[in-house]
Amino acid sequence: MLSFGESFVLALALFSVILTPAYGLPKVKPIDDVQPEQTLAVHNEIRAAVGVAPLVWNETVAAYAQNFANKLAKAGKCAYTDMRHSGGPYGENIAAGWVQPEDQMSGPIATKYWLTEKPNYDHATNKCKDVCGHYTQIVANQSFSLGCGSYRCHDNELIWIVCDYYPMPVGDANTRPY
Ligand SMILES: *[C@@H]1O[C@H](CO)[C@@H](O)[C@H](O)[C@H]1NC(C)=O
Ligand SMILES: *[C@@H]1O[C@H](CO)[C@@H](O)[C@H](O)[C@H]1NC(C)=O
Repeated sequence: MLSFGESFVLALALFSVILTPAYGLPKVKPIDDVQPEQTLAVHNEIRAAVGVAPLVWNETVAAYAQNFANKLAKAGKCAYTDMRHSGGPYGENIAAGWVQPEDQMSGPIATKYWLTEKPNYDHATNKCKDVCGHYTQIVANQSFSLGCGSYRCHDNELIWIVCDYYPMPVGDANTRPY
């Protein structure tokens, strides 16, 4: 078990900072919530900031993430308490957020939420104070490719983003993400 990796297996979510009520917003058309290029770019900025090599987009992994997202959507898994990891062979981060009038949850925005955990990770001791597993997955140098999927709930107003990372980081308590 990785010290930094424990939250890989926990069903954790970062919620939209400003939660907007589900009702009363104009209906939005589903758009490309994943935004592969931008999601990859945000990941790679975060990795570059700590000297970790960039990820590449992986269509196999993205198809896996989208397939998992489709299953959750079909099963009506829309409440935050429904959040589960896929239990597959990849590292995985999940986020959900309400569509905002001028902004919304998306691959890049989810990645920026996960980045908010960065201050919780102490590289000197390789320990997290509070949650930092989403951040350490982003910067894990054992992972070299990424794929994400998404689904929407509540009349398209709640967006879920699932990102999977290959290979899944493995190791023991001494294993560092970088
Ligand atoms: C994409 O992921 C698959 C495993 O799911 C792996 O076999 C393949 O090497 C990966 N490709 C890249 C470019 O990382
Ligand atoms: C990943 O980081 C660890 C810890 O600093 C280091 O020992 C290892 O060489 C790095 N691996 C790569 C592929 O950069």
